[in-house]
Amino acid sequence: MTNYMKLELAALSVNEGFARSAVAAFALSLNPSLSDLSDIKTAVSEAVTNSIVHAYERKNRTDADKILIECTAEKNSEDGAGLLHIKITDFGCGIEDVDKAVLPFFTTLSGDERSGMGFTIMQTFMNEFSVQSEKGKGTTVVLIKKIGADRAEIKERLDA
Ligand SMILES: Nc1ncnc2c1ncn2[C@@H]1O[C@H](COP(=O)(O)OP(=O)(O)OP(=O)(O)O)[C@@H](O)[C@H]1O
Ligand SMILES: [Mg+2]
Repeated sequence: MTNYMKLELAALSVNEGFARSAVAAFALSLNPSLSDLSDIKTAVSEAVTNSIVHAYERKNRTDADKILIECTAEKNSEDGAGLLHIKITDFGCGIEDVDKAVLPFFTTLSGDERSGMGFTIMQTFMNEFSVQSEKGKGTTVVLIKKIGADRAEIKERLDA
């Protein structure tokens, strides 16, 4: 049976720390290294922050502004590594041009404190990354992290 969790949060910045810690805590079942945990927290933090900052109207918050986080954890039968799938969805404004948005330094809030590096950071820290977005409907980011792949490989070599 696949292990999973589903978490729904108000899109408020006060929830960002909780969201990344909750996903990291869920990942513990896969026996991650500290470096894996740190990568997961960083990537989740960027995705959740994007939903909070970009998806919903900043000055007109409503109770319908929410973020859905769905995770599964499973062991890869091929190499014994753990696989953590994280899906982060908002139901906000969506992204006009995803190909452009994922480029390093691209931001629509340039006058602000944003540097346009969120998607690049997610790509760097995770093994797989994808974005699906529809204007006016919302955005879903999928992040996949392979956990313990190196250690599984080493153990296999030692056992051989
Ligand atoms: N969930 C989202 N809803 C709507 N637009 C988004 C969402 N996530 C990202 N975007 C758009 O994609 C752009 C790039 O996102 P990215 O995270 O790379 O940079 P940033 O958020 O602008 O800056 P930084 O992450 O460095 O603070 C954003 O400026 C925004 O226009
Ligand atoms: Mg960002």
